[in-house]
Amino acid sequence: MNKEVISIYAHNLEKRYDSNTIFKGLTVKLEEGDVLAVIGFSGVGKTTLLKILGLLAKPSNGKLYINSIDTARLNNKQLNMLRREYIGFSFQNPIFISSLKVIDNLLLPLLGWRKSQDIIKYKENALELLDYLGLKEFKDYRPYRLSYGQMKRVDLVRAILKNPRILILDEPTANLDEESATRVTELIKRYCDRRRIVIFSVNRDEKLLRIANKRINILDYKD
Ligand SMILES: Nc1ncnc2c1ncn2[C@@H]1O[C@H](COP(=O)(O)OP(=O)(O)O)[C@@H](O)[C@H]1O
Ligand SMILES: [Mg+2]
Repeated sequence: MNKEVISIYAHNLEKRYDSNTIFKGLTVKLEEGDVLAVIGFSGVGKTTLLKILGLLAKPSNGKLYINSIDTARLNNKQLNMLRREYIGFSFQNPIFISSLKVIDNLLLPLLGWRKSQDIIKYKENALELLDYLGLKEFKDYRPYRLSYGQMKRVDLVRAILKNPRILILDEPTANLDEESATRVTELIKRYCDRRRIVIFSVNRDEKLLRIANKRINILDYKD
């Protein structure tokens, strides 16, 4: 795969759970520098779309191309590789390994993949990002001691840390106080540049919404 460009082309996506159509006829093209906001109320299908775009779920119909590669043609190993190499995903409800400290949870996904001498650099980056988000003192905590809002920010750091070309964030500012939400928005804004694609879902955060240049309102793709 060409590492120099990145693009996502979703054509006519449809997702059904049994007879329940979540969305259909959804087409979107994203190129480097694009920032897409997926908007809509709770339960409308934002997470479902993000998971499809992040290769964590499959559409019921339609095509998803990443760098012009038809992802339906890839086997699980190839999908895993694509995800690992290109995609950083921060979940609506983050999951951590509870026996590991926050800092080790952040570094774990990089072990065995990035060079060990680079891990020191990643650790420095992780600490800087935690500090920026007001979480440095929690670096040695076990994750279950964190509040939901703190977990969300740690998970954002985890997604950003590997410096992915495609960053996908599921409601990154949900349930955060204003100061934390502003910092998170600033961090995401800093991350957006011409070589990346950023996708986030948002319920009602206007400030976050404003950093997007493209929008999808899931309600426009209902039956
Ligand atoms: N695995 C699943 N099986 C069946 N229904 C699901 C599943 N995941 C999500 N849904 C349903 O799809 C709809 C959209 O969910 P979701 O994408 O989580 O919405 P949002 O992120 O906008 O709150 C909801 O009605 C939800 O109950
Ligand atoms: Mg959701």
